[in-house]
Amino acid sequence: MTDPHLWWYVTRASGLVAWAAMTGSVMWGVLLATRVLRSIDNPAWLRDLHRWLGGTALIMTGLHMLSLMLDSWAHFSLTQVLVPLAAGYRPWPVALGIVAFYLLIAVYGSSLLGPRMPRRFWKALHYGSYASVVLVSFHAGWSGTDVGAWGYRVVAFALLGLTTVAVLVRVLTSASAAPPPRRRPPAAPRRPMTITATYPLSCDVLGIDLSLKDGSELPLWAPGAHVTVHLPNGLQRCYSLCGDPADRCRYRIAVQRAPSSRGGSAWLHANARLGTPLDVSGPSNTFMLEPAEEYVFVAGGIGITPIKAMIDSLPAHRRWQLVYIGASRATMAFSDELQQRWPDHVSIDARDETGVRPDLARILAGSGAAVYCCGPSSMTEELAALVPAARLHIERFNAATQMPDQTGRPFDVTCDRSGTHVHVSGDQSLLEALELADIPVYSSCREGICGACEVRVLAGRPQHLDSVADNENKDGAGIMYPCVSRAHTRTLTLDL
Ligand code: FES
Repeated sequence: MTDPHLWWYVTRASGLVAWAAMTGSVMWGVLLATRVLRSIDNPAWLRDLHRWLGGTALIMTGLHMLSLMLDSWAHFSLTQVLVPLAAGYRPWPVALGIVAFYLLIAVYGSSLLGPRMPRRFWKALHYGSYASVVLVSFHAGWSGTDVGAWGYRVVAFALLGLTTVAVLVRVLTSASAAPPPRRRPPAAPRRPMTITATYPLSCDVLGIDLSLKDGSELPLWAPGAHVTVHLPNGLQRCYSLCGDPADRCRYRIAVQRAPSSRGGSAWLHANARLGTPLDVSGPSNTFMLEPAEEYVFVAGGIGITPIKAMIDSLPAHRRWQLVYIGASRATMAFSDELQQRWPDHVSIDARDETGVRPDLARILAGSGAAVYCCGPSSMTEELAALVPAARLHIERFNAATQMPDQTGRPFDVTCDRSGTHVHVSGDQSLLEALELADIPVYSSCREGICGACEVRVLAGRPQHLDSVADNENKDGAGIMYPCVSRAHTRTLTLDL
């Protein structure tokens, strides 16, 4: 601190570092904007690095100005470092540096405010970063005292070269890349199918076989898969497949007449006949059977449908047991068939016979088996409290009763691929807001059950309110379901 030249060294070093960081930030921004880094899918750290370089440039510029005031030789006043043309020393070159500083503040501020400002305004401010780098280059070349030194020349040529490359890449890619056309939400890939058989599976469960109208082969599916049936009354309903996956000619579903049907199961029970045409999409699977040495299956009511397909697929030597719970045998689809085929594995718990609910805690005590459950939320919630998440696989047929802890809190979303900013108000879902902004997201149940609307989260913390999978898995995979889920953070960045 006793060296009288100390602040002069700081001035020169901070000026060079600010120039380099600013050039680096612009280069990085160009790579992000032009999708040169698309192959690694623009993860959040790329944008963080871009911002970090911009922040470093701003701090170093501040230090550069401060050290100019502290240096006893240059001895700039506050006015001279903040007001263009106020300096006595090379007023025009110094003024260029001051203007570049204000531009840098505007660009960095727009980065921080990004999702809260109109996209066009944000973009216009960001173009200011090119002007800022050019101004800094002239400022350094005309006002710097190191201009003649070879080290300075090397750095200057490298930075000017990089800036030129960045501007050229930006200009060429904008000229060649026409703006991507707005994509309409992808239509659900529906297949026209026909009902080829209907049969009662219990007093209130109807079995329905569906085949393609043209008789061609159906896509393969695995146990746990479901299809979405598009009814003529405009409703869509998801049903687990419960037939034989090797049968490529038909899909088999089981439809329980819901006591408070909103028009889905009631329509099928009233109208499903041999030859009835129905559009079907899928299959998709969010309830896949993972390999395990031992399984415990717990089914409640119509929740037996995916479980039955799983049991059918198990090799003979696999250890498993099924706890099948229902109101009465008369209402429990497949109960007789299951008990006749595997009397040692299947326990039928009909409430009208036992009078009490089975003690799941006792059944699962000491077991390390993988547990698969499909049933009402009271059952799945009980199991969630008994079985570690790593061993528990759940499919609900009602959405879980997860309430947002900040109901109705608005948030902002940046769609990374389209560059669109979307505001989600308190009284709309994220999916609705995306649809209003013409951002395509395929959806089906819109209740957080089927998993059709899955999107990837690039930044921010989603508030998972769906019933598709457990939150740890979703966070691990970086996904969310926007039909019901919201945001813990004020902003989210999605891969859309
Ligand atoms: S549409 Fe079914 S989970 Fe979102």
